[in-house]
Amino acid sequence: LVLILDYGSQYTHLITRRIRSLNIFSLCISGTSSLETITSHNPKAVILSGGPHSVHSVNSPTFPSGFVEWAQKGGIFVLGICYGLQLIVQRLGGLVEVGEEQEYGRMEIEVAKNLGIFGNKKVGDKQVVWMSHGDEAVKLPDGFEVVARSQQGAVAAVENREMRFFGLQYHPEVTHSPEGMDTLRYFLFDVCEVSAGWNMENILDEEIKVINDTVGPEEHVICALSGGVDSTVAATLVHKAIGDRLHCVFVDNGLLRYKERERVMETFENPEMKRKIIGKEFISIFDAFAHELEKKLGRKPTYLVQGTLYPDVIESCPPPGSGKTCSHTIKSHHNVGGLPKDMKLKLIEPLKLLFKDEVRQLGRILNVPDAFLKRHPFPGPGLAVRVLGDVTEGNALDILRQVDEIFIQAIKDAGLYDSIWQAFAVFLPIRSVGVQGDQRTHSHVVALRAVTSQDGMTADWYYFEHKFLDDVARKICNSVRGVNRVVQDITSKPPSTIEWE
Ligand code: XMP
Repeated sequence: LVLILDYGSQYTHLITRRIRSLNIFSLCISGTSSLETITSHNPKAVILSGGPHSVHSVNSPTFPSGFVEWAQKGGIFVLGICYGLQLIVQRLGGLVEVGEEQEYGRMEIEVAKNLGIFGNKKVGDKQVVWMSHGDEAVKLPDGFEVVARSQQGAVAAVENREMRFFGLQYHPEVTHSPEGMDTLRYFLFDVCEVSAGWNMENILDEEIKVINDTVGPEEHVICALSGGVDSTVAATLVHKAIGDRLHCVFVDNGLLRYKERERVMETFENPEMKRKIIGKEFISIFDAFAHELEKKLGRKPTYLVQGTLYPDVIESCPPPGSGKTCSHTIKSHHNVGGLPKDMKLKLIEPLKLLFKDEVRQLGRILNVPDAFLKRHPFPGPGLAVRVLGDVTEGNALDILRQVDEIFIQAIKDAGLYDSIWQAFAVFLPIRSVGVQGDQRTHSHVVALRAVTSQDGMTADWYYFEHKFLDDVARKICNSVRGVNRVVQDITSKPPSTIEWE
């Protein structure tokens, strides 16, 4: 087992996921867990994650006292990533300071020593990595050596081979560090000598067991099917576990938002509010469905299945029931953050430890057809998070539906659909001046967004041929009434997110 101590980085669970992709079992627990909790997992290696804190802040999270001694005695390997490296340096007697230059984004680093973690590299080897930090290590603890530096000369990797303590200032887990996985693979298999044995078949068996242990033999479960990847795989999995005691309902959320138009208009001002309202609407539909089932079956369903994924939980922190606090909420995904406190149904979330690509793998094992598995992700709150500002503005939803359809159809016609993680249009809350026919217009602006990604945690914008963009923009302005300008979003995640709200 590789245990990850979470210090709040949005990439922490990506480390877990990357390590699992090497078929190594990895678990993530809070970075402030007690020594007893840490040791109870009996890990071969511990990774200290990155985080938004500075080691100098009051109450910055850290590992428990006795951790270093335990690691030394037990032959445990410890790797600190970003904030994790700074924690190691500071706690073992070195010095961390606010760097002269903050390092964000792609950087080149150079191997200074081919010791442990870079044992498979030569001195002078360069690689591009993804940095995201303000503080830096300026004096290392006794026995530590610098094994790589950034192009600005800052410490990029350190180690104390004898103590089995290692540190990387960059994030090897993100795809923007192209050689990061090689480094993790080499570190875990060759340096730590952990063994592989984790795969989707195991997860499937385990989840089915959890569902059977949770849902009593007489109990019933409901599930909202959207036709997307997550709810389809979640429902198939739960059906495999409990058969016909699963009842599915399809919620047409587009229609729902329309119906609820006046009621929610005033509160639809901020994106977080949008998500919460939509989450609440879903739940009241489930309650009504549960009531109907009660009449039919003679008893109420007890559970609700949701296709919540790991990124939903991470980016909506604090995860419900985790007891954690987090001041760095990115977005409260509606199926996580928007649930009302008085919801009567208990939740079953069999995919909540998985990333999208893992869910697709699981779906393949469950024989879910490609027509579902290959669909682009679509957010639970639907088009509401793609109409910026007031959803009820004019005929924004209608315009957006038409633009989206043209864009997606063009992508399919060009044979690009499967190479793109997600593509969609965004309705902007502004008008711009144009000239259509012989008339000046003052019409809407729409943005096109297409990204590539492995799991939605990080993303790059997709490079379309100019001719393709020209055709699409022309078609949109010619056929969608009310649009006179089309722009393309060319930012990656980070710094942007995939959706605009
Ligand atoms: P962001 O915009 O956070 O999106 O970079 C990452 C992935 O999550 C989807 N997304 C959502 N899914 N409820 C959902 O079920 C939401 O509120 C939500 N917001 C974003 C997004 O489409 C992308 O695939």
